[in-house]
Amino acid sequence: MKALLFAFPGNTALRDALCTRLDLPAGDLELHRFPDEESLVRIATPVDGRDAVLVCSLDRPDRKLVALYLAATALRELGARRVLLLAPYLCYLRQDSRFHSGEAVSARPIARWLSSFVDGLVTVDPHLHRIHDLNQVFSVNSVSVAAAPAIAAWIRAQLPRPLLVGPDSESAQWVEAVARAVPCPCIVLSKQRLGDQQVRVSLPDTAIDRDRQPVLIDDIISTGRTQIAAMQALREAGFGAPICVAVHAVFSNDAEAAIMAAGAARIVTCNTIAHRSNAIDLGAAIATALHDLLPH
Ligand code: R5P
Repeated sequence: MKALLFAFPGNTALRDALCTRLDLPAGDLELHRFPDEESLVRIATPVDGRDAVLVCSLDRPDRKLVALYLAATALRELGARRVLLLAPYLCYLRQDSRFHSGEAVSARPIARWLSSFVDGLVTVDPHLHRIHDLNQVFSVNSVSVAAAPAIAAWIRAQLPRPLLVGPDSESAQWVEAVARAVPCPCIVLSKQRLGDQQVRVSLPDTAIDRDRQPVLIDDIISTGRTQIAAMQALREAGFGAPICVAVHAVFSNDAEAAIMAAGAARIVTCNTIAHRSNAIDLGAAIATALHDLLPH
């Protein structure tokens, strides 16, 4: 029997594209928020022993996780064979260590909790730094889709002489993979985070071709302060306006406007979180990963 794909609000476009690519039916999931902000979930399509895929990108996770848990529980009680989670953006991975005494480490407990109510996971470029593989923290089969090939294809098609720039050492894994695939040169800057909204970035001490189009690449844009500090360092070093590329368009508060005001030529993101900057479609790569988890 074919799997059913259920979309959380904001995930319908990606879910519909996946249904078309994989020739799978969509299921109806209704989500109601009570005035006190509790969630009521209703599965409005019979699941009849099929696999059910919940499509729910986990930006703004505190508003979504309880409803996701309730949806997975309801699907199981209603007879789903397996409940799989497609979370193109996976939350709570950056706090993978106790940076200050007494802090809660979020990556492992959240992964343990998700593993307790889904049977498998597909995500895109999870922010793995001190954890090297998702399967170290998830006890269910977890598949990571790489955005690098699609980002590289976009850069190759759009920009004749790019110089890829990673704003910090953590971005090296993504920037170097994209640079290899374009192919084109890349540099990685050094970042010091002084607070949620405050970062300092410096350029490496190497000869760099300043006539190329700088393309800042990071996995996440949240406050945008990393991009803004990197843009400032590039400008001081004599570069032109950069194009800011990110996998995950988290964009908290004024991030998008602040990046444009700081002089970005353009912001381009992948469609892991629905946003008007989405220009790089990961539908084909996500469909392949999901197909491999589903019964044939
Ligand atoms: C952190 O290591 C990530 O790779 C990003 O650089 C970071 O999440 C960006 O955050 P923000 O936009 O708040 O500076």
